[in-house]
Amino acid sequence: MTDQHASRSRRRLTATVTDLEVRVQRAFLVGVELPVMATIDAERSLEELALLTDTSGSDPIDMELVKRQSIDPATYIGSGKADELRALTKALDIDVVIFDNPLTPAQTRNLEQIFHVDVVDREALILDIFAQHATSKIGALQVELAMLRYNLPRLRGKGKALSQQGFGVLARGPGETKLETDRRHTLARISKLERELKDKARHRETQRKARKRSAIPQVSIVGYTNAGKSTLLNSLTDAGVVVRDQLFATLDSTVRKLELPHNRQALIADTVGFVRRLPHHLVDAFQSTLAEVAEADLLLHVVDATEPDLVGQLAAVREVLQEIGASDVPELLVFNKIDLIDENEKQRLENLYPDAVFISAARSVGLDRLRESIESHLERKTVTLNLSIPYERGDVVAAAHRLGEVLAEKHEPDGTVLDVRVPLRDTNRFEGFETNGGR
Ligand code: GTP
Repeated sequence: MTDQHASRSRRRLTATVTDLEVRVQRAFLVGVELPVMATIDAERSLEELALLTDTSGSDPIDMELVKRQSIDPATYIGSGKADELRALTKALDIDVVIFDNPLTPAQTRNLEQIFHVDVVDREALILDIFAQHATSKIGALQVELAMLRYNLPRLRGKGKALSQQGFGVLARGPGETKLETDRRHTLARISKLERELKDKARHRETQRKARKRSAIPQVSIVGYTNAGKSTLLNSLTDAGVVVRDQLFATLDSTVRKLELPHNRQALIADTVGFVRRLPHHLVDAFQSTLAEVAEADLLLHVVDATEPDLVGQLAAVREVLQEIGASDVPELLVFNKIDLIDENEKQRLENLYPDAVFISAARSVGLDRLRESIESHLERKTVTLNLSIPYERGDVVAAAHRLGEVLAEKHEPDGTVLDVRVPLRDTNRFEGFETNGGR
């Protein structure tokens, strides 16, 4: 167990003692290793499931990694193994069994009949965490939509889920709102949410276009959950974003102005933390929030330098980036929490990742160097502007030819219309001459 994990557990335990009505759910975790998986992957994934369980507010009491040649269609782990685990979970007074692998609705029902307690899978758990952390209206709507889509095929067997707020994949005990399980209702709610989110996406799109027209470069902070993205945004911009030693503290992106050396500026936003196998329903629902990442000029990929499975986390983040169409955006690797590693380890990482920047966001170490690095990355970037320049401003046309590469030039009644690719740093020279088709 890592120190961070331990401190999370301790904190929750205190909360339990002071809040006696709420019994923290005792969870038993099951991972299944199939021949296609490396043992180490299955183990790490199960460890991560324990962290996720902890974040959701349940207590990971015990876990088991089951080895199988193939998936049992009825119970995933086979009925013999299920019976064996039933005895164990009963002895441990378990309230919920959480599977690391995706279960079909039928497998979930069968397993619930065997265990006589709730059975959920990794996707349901992540959805539950997202539901607890969605604070903005749009974040809450996106999570609700993902949950409804996840729950739809599961409605028949389960008599719960789908509270008024759309939260509650895991039973929450007292205070839970009335449950809607009617399929027709769910479908109607799904289409209402889809419409509402589409409207909001359109609005965001307009704002995004306006930001783009202003040609201020955009930087997105991405990274594995708990890497220190919010801390970095705060220390770079004084944004006042909530920082918690908890997975997924950030669900809604916050956009702030970032001052760069030489009086330049950029916009910087943080995003939801990534994790292995982020549920597809969530990625779909968060499409409009994540679209900003794909359109950024630069990604700051924040990595926790103390993480033993650094390579696995880097790969998991890049996989999500690919899924949201952001794999072409230039990436600057930022190793965070260097205050917690020794000089030898830092040297080792520097040798392995020579282009990375090493910082401590919490201690504000290495931030000037990071700003410089951001600036030089942005300087390398070019943008295509669509300009309409009145004939009396021949100097601007000349500047376009001098500073950039003119891709098209037409002479219209009002002036010269140009498509020109210019370095991002020179775009302010053309402010006021851009048409809507810029970039
Ligand atoms: P998600 O919202 O889960 O994606 O997390 P995040 O990546 O935004 O991480 P956050 O900024 O919330 O930080 C996670 C934890 O790491 C917090 O406890 C921070 O205080 C801690 N942390 C962040 N940066 C540093 C650092 O430079 N040094 C140390 N020692 N701790 C740090």
